[in-house]
Amino acid sequence: MPWKVFVTRQIPEAGLRMVEASAEVKVNQEDRVLSKGEIVDGVRGCHGLLCLLTDRVDEEVIDAGDLRIISNYAVGYDNVDVEAATRRGIMVTNTPVEGLTETPADFTFALLLTLARRVCEGDRMVRSGQFKGWAPLLLIGKDVYRKTMGIVGAGRIGAAVARRAKGFGMRILYYDVERRTEIEAETGASLVPLDRLLKESDFVTLHVPLTPETKHMIGNREMRTMKRTALLVNTSRGPVVDERSLVAALEKGEIAGAALDVYEREPHVHPELLTMNNVILAPHMASASLDTRTEMAVAAAENLLEGLRGGRPRFLVNPEVSSYRAGE
Ligand code: DGY
Repeated sequence: MPWKVFVTRQIPEAGLRMVEASAEVKVNQEDRVLSKGEIVDGVRGCHGLLCLLTDRVDEEVIDAGDLRIISNYAVGYDNVDVEAATRRGIMVTNTPVEGLTETPADFTFALLLTLARRVCEGDRMVRSGQFKGWAPLLLIGKDVYRKTMGIVGAGRIGAAVARRAKGFGMRILYYDVERRTEIEAETGASLVPLDRLLKESDFVTLHVPLTPETKHMIGNREMRTMKRTALLVNTSRGPVVDERSLVAALEKGEIAGAALDVYEREPHVHPELLTMNNVILAPHMASASLDTRTEMAVAAAENLLEGLRGGRPRFLVNPEVSSYRAGE
């Protein structure tokens, strides 16, 4: 039986070619996020869906097709109603490939260093002709080396950030729901309660998945607990931070700055953030390297094809649905 697959947006060629070699594929040719109705239409008659973190895959989408597998082109899968898929025996997969560990960790450090050393402010100054020569007090920033790094969520990406922090000679605190002895051995990181991490860290970086428990995990109270000199970095998911509280904390000087790659109502950005000099705003690009995006595309294609064949995809999110009636 020829498999039918819907791909909601162009992904790197390498992955797309693999899917096209084994299935009848419809690909959204437009460079934009599809509406819910368009995804529902696209999924009709399809056995496989290859979707993105910007697509909300809810029951309506799931029920529109004859889906066997939903292959999400991202490590995060909060955009997919996994429970609903599981109830229907549909596999859900993600792409936690090596690149999607190391590349976001690099970017986290890029944001952290850029914010701490005021690189964006310097760039704006030079471009606007305001640079009048070296001066002892010009754009004084914060050192990163030997400072305390607080990592909230020490899974794969959090651990990769810890390894980089070790290279900077930093003291590393982490908060997680479980103890990560490997990271402790490798980096000297210590597991501490969240409040202690917030109180003692010079930099707080977030690496938790978005779940009902982590939504607004960093709000008013947490930002008041942080040092007034501390910087917050978020490359996880926007709603982990209560954006209104963040704006208030920055306005009141309760924290010193923030670097964000993700937003609560993405792609909308709180207008106050746009006006703040001590904030860096990136367009959800932490994984955007050619190698990693290609690796993700290949993994998403492999997951999809393995699922269609009735096998167990490498990155299965809901192992309770391990196979379906192969060959049906
Ligand atoms: C992910 O994979 O979840 C990132 O946010 C985008 O690559």
